Amino acid sequence: MTTPIYYVNDVPHVGTAYTTIAADIIARYHRLSGDDTFFLTGTDEHGQKMEVAAGKAGKEPKRFADEVVEKYKQLWLDLGISNDHFVRTTDTSHVEFCKFMFTRLQENGDIYKGQYTGLYCVGCEAFVKEVDLEDGKCPNHKTPPQPVQEESYFFKLSRYQDALLSHYEQHPDFISPGFRKQEIVNRVKEGLNDLSVSRTSIKWGIPIPGDPAHVMYVWIDALSNYISALGYPGPKYEQFWPADLHLIGKDILWFHSVIWPAMLLSAKLPLPKKVFAHGFWTVDQNKMSKALGNVVRPSEMKDKYGLDAFKYYLFSKAQFGYDNDFSEKELVDVLNTELADDLGNLVNRIVVLTWKYFNGIVPVPPSSPEQEQPLVDRFSIASAIHDAFKQLDFSAVLKVLWGALRWMNKHITDTKPWDLSKQQKTAELEFVLFTLIEGLRIVAIFLQPILPATATAILDALAITNRGFAHATWRNPAGFVKDHQIKERSIILFEKKEFKQAPSTDPTVNQPMTPPSIEPVKPEITYDEFSRVDLRTAKIVNAETFPDSKKLVKLTVDVAGKSRTIVAGIAQQYSPASLVGKTIIIVANLKPRKLHGVMSEGMLLAAVSNDVPVLLVPDKDVDSGFPVG
Ligand code: MSP
Repeated sequence: MTTPIYYVNDVPHVGTAYTTIAADIIARYHRLSGDDTFFLTGTDEHGQKMEVAAGKAGKEPKRFADEVVEKYKQLWLDLGISNDHFVRTTDTSHVEFCKFMFTRLQENGDIYKGQYTGLYCVGCEAFVKEVDLEDGKCPNHKTPPQPVQEESYFFKLSRYQDALLSHYEQHPDFISPGFRKQEIVNRVKEGLNDLSVSRTSIKWGIPIPGDPAHVMYVWIDALSNYISALGYPGPKYEQFWPADLHLIGKDILWFHSVIWPAMLLSAKLPLPKKVFAHGFWTVDQNKMSKALGNVVRPSEMKDKYGLDAFKYYLFSKAQFGYDNDFSEKELVDVLNTELADDLGNLVNRIVVLTWKYFNGIVPVPPSSPEQEQPLVDRFSIASAIHDAFKQLDFSAVLKVLWGALRWMNKHITDTKPWDLSKQQKTAELEFVLFTLIEGLRIVAIFLQPILPATATAILDALAITNRGFAHATWRNPAGFVKDHQIKERSIILFEKKEFKQAPSTDPTVNQPMTPPSIEPVKPEITYDEFSRVDLRTAKIVNAETFPDSKKLVKLTVDVAGKSRTIVAGIAQQYSPASLVGKTIIIVANLKPRKLHGVMSEGMLLAAVSNDVPVLLVPDKDVDSGFPVG
């Protein structure tokens, strides 16, 4: 499995580190499952963006890259990333593979020389179309693209339209999550333009074989890393290609689900099994950017709150795949309650009680089937955990684990071990303590991929050596046996922290509503006229803000199994995370129109009081697609 390779024009922020941290969880999960795992990350060092950044720093691009690469490597060490290899696009083996790849495309008749006339966005390292610009600027980078006119080699991407569409159809999970797939399929169906794959106006890149005045388009170079890093052709390539997963952010899905597969089809190499695009982190609903001064640095979060608290926040907050808004205050809340109280305090109580009542020896009471059945059921979490990991739904994994921890906390309160001790009910006390330690053992084993340091600290404290997933079942023979002594007498896993909130600067959020100004009722219409409006229930499956609009949000809604996009002006009142999962009411037969560059296929219903929209939702659960009348 792979992460994208990172541009080295800047050091990583939370958004860029997120893909790698998520990939690390997946790699750890597979290693613990006993799968042969090769986890690849690296850096994307060629191209115009780098040439410009190095120029500004007054350095040769390679020297500039060398310096930033060290910072990446250090950050991955600090964040405990367990990658098996780190590829650089300046590695000789990578450069050679790119030339080989280009030659393969040429041999397949897919490369021709022509003239490129168009626009290029350096931020995206991509050719852009006039129609996709907003006020003449790239919607992602807010900068005008540069006009380019130069001789260029082209890749016959157009030739692969049908092959790609049939690949998507035959491999329904190839583009994941499902709600991101349709947009790609629609765009491919609209037709594919051939792709300009070389530049003569920049120098910092891999020369085209046989025509060194041209350097390779940086994305052709970058995407090839996934195979060059395996030392093609050779045993690693044989063992690990095709990749099971390319994990990426949503902004680069087109390159991974269209251009890369087309290159592989042309080179007659197998396609990766899955491309999964996660959502974006914003800060207070704004794009993270140096200009806005709101960039969150992962090392700063680690230093302030600890690595595992930071990771727990990133992956517990919302379902992986969706957009998310970063809030340091929420991070601190979660650290103090879910980590320090629910987990840390529980572990310490269990350890302390084991020493107090049993001198650190785990009581292993005889098994009594009736007494145990409810516990066996309570801790039979393996299949839910494995399902959630396989779907990359890390928040669901954590929900299952925290469900068990909360049950254990309640079990202490309900059974009151201190009373059992006073009343000398030794058999009951033994059973309660065993239940708690056994439950904790199971939870800690499953926690390892996401919070390895915390899980290891718990397993070490309990002196548990068998840590494989297969052992995480109730009374597993590899678990506690007679006379097992735990190691620690007390353990503090998380210190509580305080967060001092800066006063909110956005006057529109959470302000009390002013009394509505009620507009006069519109002129009468007939039943027939009204019946032409097709109102339907719709379920929001994804919500994304626009980096440059405070008001608008792009919703993907499901209407009876069909997905459609609606752009709505509710971003100031509703965060994307709060919208996902809601059932709303939409006008389903409204003529689509373009809003903020996106085709909006319908309108949602909201009560509007002094410009503040309040969503209308059904008062009981209803499926999506039902008529409203
Ligand atoms: N170099 C290309 C990838 C080439 S892969 C063959 C690139 N690099 S990047 O450094 O700009 O981005 C790396 C990753 O960070 C991407 O997955 C991108 O989606 C992710 N993110 C960048 N900003 C992000 C957020 N604000 N939130 C979440 N992920 C974001 O693209």
